[in-house]
Amino acid sequence: MSRLPYVRPTVQRLNQGPVNPFRLGSSPSCPEIDGVAVADLVRQHGSPLFVYSETSLRNQYRDAHRAFTRRYPDVQFAWSYKTNYLNAICRVFHQEGSIAEVVSGFEYEKARHNGIPGDKIIFNGPHKEKADLERAIAEGAMIQVDNIDELLVLSDMARGRSKPLPIALRVHLSTGGQVVWSKFGFNGDDGEVQQVVRRIIALPQLQLAGLHCHIGTFILEPDWYRIATQKLVSLALEAEAMGAGPIRYLNMGGGFASHARLHYQYLPPEQVTPTMDRYAEAIGDTITSMWPANRPLPKLYLETGRSLVDDAGYLISSVVAVKKRVFHDPLQTALAAYGKNPGHVSVSSGSQNALVLDAGINLLYTSTWYQPRILPVRACIDAPTPTTVYGCLCMNIDVIREEAPLPGLNTGDQVVMHPVGAYNQTQSMQFITYRPAAVMIGQDRQVHVIRKRENLDYVQAMEVVPHHLNA
Ligand SMILES: Cc1ncc(COP(=O)(O)O)c(C=O)c1O
Repeated sequence: MSRLPYVRPTVQRLNQGPVNPFRLGSSPSCPEIDGVAVADLVRQHGSPLFVYSETSLRNQYRDAHRAFTRRYPDVQFAWSYKTNYLNAICRVFHQEGSIAEVVSGFEYEKARHNGIPGDKIIFNGPHKEKADLERAIAEGAMIQVDNIDELLVLSDMARGRSKPLPIALRVHLSTGGQVVWSKFGFNGDDGEVQQVVRRIIALPQLQLAGLHCHIGTFILEPDWYRIATQKLVSLALEAEAMGAGPIRYLNMGGGFASHARLHYQYLPPEQVTPTMDRYAEAIGDTITSMWPANRPLPKLYLETGRSLVDDAGYLISSVVAVKKRVFHDPLQTALAAYGKNPGHVSVSSGSQNALVLDAGINLLYTSTWYQPRILPVRACIDAPTPTTVYGCLCMNIDVIREEAPLPGLNTGDQVVMHPVGAYNQTQSMQFITYRPAAVMIGQDRQVHVIRKRENLDYVQAMEVVPHHLNA
């Protein structure tokens, strides 16, 4: 029997071509945000520019609150400051009824500055300065203990109090799916939590008032919350049976997904991101079904961050250069390096459109994990083609999107990136440029500056030049 000749497998790059032979197709565009023309925003506030929609912030909050209160009688949201602590953003959530969740002395001060009393602050995080703990204790904050050293510091501080100091334990749990965030808190799966509970029982100056877990971020599987809640409720009931408590609250943290799109996420967010109802059902129904019927239900705290703010945030940016990106064939490049290239073989194996924007990845930290949608501001009739979107930093890694579907754009055109409301303000880095202004579009379409563009004085404010260098 004759065998078929061996054919080497090849991998071919598939490029998205024009949608019809005339290259006509409507590229989606974003001429306005909440009824305000993007061109006007840039004219008045410059480019790049962060834009937040107050309407979206409030709607996201109300939807989430409604979903949870429908399923659980005693729910309290605590705005996760680290997700976005621009004061205007925090105050929108505080006005809606959210208290504050902070993870450092700095964030604690910010929450107090925003009018939140200490007893409406959840104090979280793996490192809390002693002075910050003292203040938090004096003001009645809800301290979520991360580790045994912190527990011992608190037990020292609480000595001599007339009443025991209420604390909660942060717990990390496996839900069978996610990578366990074991950096934080005590192990809820191997008996460590029970050991710590025994220690707390032996310390009369401390009282276990709550249990907390935050299983991770951008959790697309609501069932993981069902499992985490089951485990946390079991631990709470076990702690009480051991003599601790009473457990007054359960804090399920944050982690609900926004409509961002992960790298390599095949389906669009509209099909992938669970509704808030599914998270609410997983958590609320689990507590009510497991909690003893003769006892008042514990208060449920939620520290949801990204799912409330991400979709409300946009970054406007302008095209500053149009380029071609050349792809090199790695084999031919290697042969050329060793002088083995026969000469007639080109080392480049193709090219695609590329743009340079006036914003860089220092403003879009989250582009490491997510691909922001990039839309041109003006309507374009030509079909989108794969385009590399570079940032403006003098660094080769400054690529905002390896491949975004965009029509042909010119220098001076503007684009809108979305959703970018979570973590990009707080994690942005001042690097070679001034960070841009941020505005909030009010429900009445008024545009408010909520952070000014940086300038030289601001960037240099903390620098000191030694006397001998003053010419
Ligand atoms: C303890 C804690 N709570 C809440 C959040 C907010 O999470 P997310 O933005 O995913 O909702 C975080 C973020 O990592 C966190 O560490």
